[in-house]
This record gives sequence, C-alpha cells and structure tokens, in this order.
Amino acid sequence: MEGQARLALNSQRWDWWPLLPIYPYGIRKTLVRELVADRLWSFEQLHGIWYVAVPIRMTVIKVTGGLLLYAPITPTPEVCTKLKELESLHGPICSIVLPTTSGLEHKLSVPAMARAFPKATVWVSDYQWSFPIRLPSSWLGFPADRTKILFRDGLPHTTDLEWISLGPLHLGLGTFLEVACFDRLTGSLIVTDALVSIPKTPLSVFDLDPLPLLFHARENGFEPILDTPEMRQKGWLRIVLFANYLRPASLEIRPLFDSLRESFSPGCRQSKLHFGFYPFQWKPEWQSDAEELLSTPSAMLLVAPVLQRLVFPRAQVLLLAWIRRLANLPGLCRLISAHYDSPVDCGPQQLEILASRLLQKPSSPNQGSWATLAFIDDLLLRNGIVPADPQDFDGGNAPNSPWA
Ligand SMILES: [Fe+2]
Repeated sequence: MEGQARLALNSQRWDWWPLLPIYPYGIRKTLVRELVADRLWSFEQLHGIWYVAVPIRMTVIKVTGGLLLYAPITPTPEVCTKLKELESLHGPICSIVLPTTSGLEHKLSVPAMARAFPKATVWVSDYQWSFPIRLPSSWLGFPADRTKILFRDGLPHTTDLEWISLGPLHLGLGTFLEVACFDRLTGSLIVTDALVSIPKTPLSVFDLDPLPLLFHARENGFEPILDTPEMRQKGWLRIVLFANYLRPASLEIRPLFDSLRESFSPGCRQSKLHFGFYPFQWKPEWQSDAEELLSTPSAMLLVAPVLQRLVFPRAQVLLLAWIRRLANLPGLCRLISAHYDSPVDCGPQQLEILASRLLQKPSSPNQGSWATLAFIDDLLLRNGIVPADPQDFDGGNAPNSPWA
C-alpha cells in the first residue's frame, strides 16, 4: 500500500515548480474527465497563492488526424500517461495551443508539454510578452522549429474548429489577447480566462486535495483543520471571494504582530498550515458577499471580475462584440473554460443575457468588494502604466512583441 502511494506521488511530481512557485508546488494531482464521449476531455489541477486555489483546466479535443491540447497544464508523469492512453485510442497529439498572451499560468506549461510531445505543432496567440524583462520567444521556451502564431501563420484544424479572437488590447505592461476555440461537431466553445461559470459548491477536483478549502474555512491560525462538508463549503465561498476580488470588502488583514503571536500554536506547527500564521479576519457579512457574487444560477456566465475591472472597463465595446460573435456560432450549446466549472450549458440565450447584464450594470464599479480592483485600476491609469485607450496600438503595431 505504501509502495502504491509512493508510486502515485512520483507520478504527480513536478520538479520545475520554482518557475512559478505557487500552490501546490512540487506535487500536482490531476483529475481527468471525459466531457463529451470520444471527443472532449478535461484535465484539471489546482493552482493558487496562499491556498487560494482554483481549478486550472486543459481541454483535449479529438480532431481529424489526432488530438489537440488547448491551454496545457503541467505535464506531470500522470498527465503524460493519461494523454498517451488517449493517443493509443484516438491518434497522436498533433497540436498544442497556447490561446492567451497574458495568463502566465497557462504559458509556463507549454514548453514542457511541447518537449513531452515532440512531434506536435505548437500554436501560440500573438503578442506574447514576458515581465519584467522582454525576452525573445525562443528564450521563453517555445520550440522555434515547430511553433506557429495563431492567425499570423494560419489556424489549426479549421475543418473541425473555428477560432475567435478577443483582443489584442494594449495594457501597458503587456497585451491582452485570448483566442477561443469552437468545436463545430459538439457545439462546444472552449475559452481560457474571459468567461467563467463559478459553481456554488466546490468542484470535484478538490476531492483530490481539500486542504485549501479547509485552510480558509477557519477563523484563525490556531483553529485545527476539520474536514466536513460544511467546512469545505465555507472554504470554497471564501476562496471564490479571494480569487475574484483579491481583497473582498468583508475581509480584514490583521496586524502582523497579532498574527505572528498566534503562530506556532499546538496542532499548527506544520509547514502545510503555515505554522499557524493566518493574517485574515472575516467580517460577519462575508457570506452575503459570496452569495451576491454567486446569486446567478450556476449555469450562468460571468466575465471574471478581475478581467472585467482591470482589462475591459475601457474596452467594453470590444468585449460585447466578441460575446455577440460567440452567440452567433451555429449549434453552440456548451462552454468549457480553463477555470472553475465546465462544461456548462451555453447557447445564444445565455450569452445575450450576459451581454445585457454588462450593458445594464456599470462596467466599472468602485464600491464594496470591487474597491481593491478599482484602486489598482485607478493607480495604473493615473500613472500612465495602463493606456486610456487599450485598443490604441500606435498605428497598429503591438509594443515590444517578440514575434514582430
Ligand atoms: Fe487563467
């Protein structure tokens, strides 16, 4: 039994975790699900900072001639084994797609996935960038001899798939560009960060590792970890608030000295519990804040609040045009996003409701839980780090694009 556990652990190892040192660090457990029989599969892991862990998803699509990977996740031995099982049934992995310029969590896995499948063509969205130093594309690890740029060098598998671009938007530090993929056969729309569906209860990938939920379900650092359905649910709602608003209005950061004084209490002297260091204090209204965010039926769609407040407040026309273009995709019935819940029902009606909601509500609220995002946006704008017109590319040329 112990040997089996060790084998499982070895298959989940990821020694390159220091490249982006976030939870779960060197051990990445993966949930594999078949979303549509013999056509679409989801590979999910958790990732996050300070146990604010949300699912990150790679979608595998059966295309003519093999398989396509959309938004690769960390290719642990476990992931590669599962992918090779799919290859034996459905043909080789022929394309690996990085559909975003800005999501570092999606970029980092691409070079390793490309090395794991050396015959696959790597497709990346245009205007890739790195921070704080602008590096040439080959230095970012993309294999030069088999990397192509979406749209500029063509598009993969167009008999099966349609590709729809959101952006580019100039954000000062870099460019936002996301490319959605529509699988015509199944009516499935696959996106990266722009659209999400946040469920009211924790996703099944947390069954592999409920610790992030239980860590944040506590009221203080010396409260022991207790694994019950109620605590998992409480932790999930708090993680949703953290992940969407960075610092929700119902959260207070406690003085450092107070948090340190409570550290190293009996039962909490473990690194996985941060030795009892827990600088958060939730106000009583936290639950109603979470319920307000999740008040729409779970199948309804959201533009992730971080993107809505930091990327799109001055580009809502572009966002609405993209949503309406998606709504016109023939046969659209399902959404698969790289984060949170998937698949969810999604047709023209849901997208029209989303577009109407965006038009009705102020796109850039400044109050309540939005205050931190509004503060960041205002700071970036006032200091000229973010341009007032993100669609202004100085005559059409993206700044510092390593592909130019
Ligand atoms: Fe992402």
